[in-house]
Amino acid sequence: MPPPVSAPSTRSRKIVRPGLTSARRGLVAALLLLGVRADLRAQSPAVPVLPAPLANYTSVLPPHFLNPAVVQQDNTPADNPITDAGATLGRVLFYDKRLSANQTVSCSSCHRPDSGFSDPRRFSVGLDGGLTDRNSMGLTNARWYQRRTFFWDERAATLEVQVLQPIQNTVEMDLSLPTLVSRLGGEAFYADLFTAAFGSPTVTTDRISRALAQFVRALASTRTKYDAGVGVNFSNFTAEENLGRRLFHGEIGAATCAQCHGTDNFSSGPRINNNGLENPYVDKGVGAVSGRALDEGLFKVPSLRNAALTAPYMHDGRFATLEEVVEFYNSGVVAHPNLSPPLRARPPAQGPLRLNLTAAEKAALVAFMKTLTDTALAADARFADPFPQTAFHDADLNRDSRISLAELTRMIELFNTRFGSVRTGSYAVAAEATEDGFAVDRGRASDRLARLARYHAADSDRNGKIGLPELTRVMEFYHSRAGTIRTGAYHAAAGTDDGFAPGP
Ligand code: HEC
Ligand code: HEC
Repeated sequence: MPPPVSAPSTRSRKIVRPGLTSARRGLVAALLLLGVRADLRAQSPAVPVLPAPLANYTSVLPPHFLNPAVVQQDNTPADNPITDAGATLGRVLFYDKRLSANQTVSCSSCHRPDSGFSDPRRFSVGLDGGLTDRNSMGLTNARWYQRRTFFWDERAATLEVQVLQPIQNTVEMDLSLPTLVSRLGGEAFYADLFTAAFGSPTVTTDRISRALAQFVRALASTRTKYDAGVGVNFSNFTAEENLGRRLFHGEIGAATCAQCHGTDNFSSGPRINNNGLENPYVDKGVGAVSGRALDEGLFKVPSLRNAALTAPYMHDGRFATLEEVVEFYNSGVVAHPNLSPPLRARPPAQGPLRLNLTAAEKAALVAFMKTLTDTALAADARFADPFPQTAFHDADLNRDSRISLAELTRMIELFNTRFGSVRTGSYAVAAEATEDGFAVDRGRASDRLARLARYHAADSDRNGKIGLPELTRVMEFYHSRAGTIRTGAYHAAAGTDDGFAPGP
């Protein structure tokens, strides 16, 4: 049978032992097919793999980040500047499932790097399968928000306060801070990380909060097409992108976007706004916190940097695409007593602002917002998961850093028990949308396609299902090819981008 993934890429040349790369890929495919992560993941997570010397989180910002309008948006407090050791500790905490009571959820479960540190799901799934009541917020450039407050309704006065909330939130991570402190205190590697960051191994809530806040503030996007254009009068933009830029800033047409999504951070200034999504608001935003009618529908908006990655949009994730967002501002803003002035019609006209954009202008606004996408940030190793591939770690029951045939068999059994049979349903449907543990996660469209290709390759009788014989053949194939199912040390491999990690 064919390998369940495309032929090894040029990457395989880097591998000392030929064949191992595709063996690893095949194993990953098998793990993905099995979807047993959910069954095994309650086991204690791994030890992080970190660079030495420490990664640099304090690199100098480009000149346009030093202009006064941007500097006054910077919410870094004087007593918690970013340090390399602090942000490194923050990175480990951010990806560590120990921060949730049953050790199944980390911050990154709902703030994913390839989604602009947001969640592609409309509502995020917490530790026991419960849903959050709002859409996760992108964390790109969260460091710059003039009002310094956090959450859609600004209920956290600072980022240092905010980062401790999800840990204690009963839907999200449900862990008490004393339990967290004692749990982390029992891990030798944390003693080293706390010492490097704060001078002693003592774990405290305050130190956890500072380190997490430093890491979140370090998620600075400064390398977009937009940034490259700032110094050259956007001569690097296409005509469409420049049209969108001028529309966004109100140089052409009636749009007022930049009045609320301002500066080179595309975040708001001194005001918090109501953008007329509905009337009355189901979720009152600031109004639910203050109990005052004049706060109804006021919401913080995260920076629009990386907006193309953070779908769905708005506090309730109601819009799936940027096109829908633009059409909303074009024709759909709803009258509301608290509607912010930039979205009201110019007197003597009444009611919400209507933009009357042409199809080309709407497309241009979307094209402009896409110039704010920073793929370098998503791919940046400084911000990546420092823990070894969890699927491998979870499968490695005896923790010898290898997946044996016995461990694979155990996984098949577990999966079998859970679903009554190895039948996994139509893989096309499963890969697309199910939450049943079959698909590892939904991820980007390109990931989904890669997954579909693997399913298709493994489905040798082309019946749309992966049967036990097919699964067994995948195992046998890789067994014969690599001589054994032994896959090497996943600790070393997880950081190497050598085909061990799943996805394209
Ligand atoms: C189960 C999903 C989930 C987990 C886990 C989670 N978050 Fe969030 N996060 C959300 C949601 C949803 C919101 C918006 C909630 C709201 O505004 O009421 C949010 C908002 C935020 C914000 C506010 C951003 C802004 O601009 O105001 C920050 C910062 C943040 N999360 C960081 C973290 C950190 C750090 C962790 C880990 C300690 C974490 N989150 C864990 C779902 C999650
Ligand atoms: C009056 C201020 C205001 C104006 C003008 C405005 N917005 Fe917004 N924008 C907001 C607020 C507030 C939110 C969040 C609302 C919510 O979730 O309830 C938001 C949300 C968004 C989001 C979704 C962000 C996310 O992470 O979910 C996008 C994209 C966006 N706006 C783009 C635009 C564009 C494009 C324009 C111009 C056509 C524009 N905005 C004009 C205030 C404004």
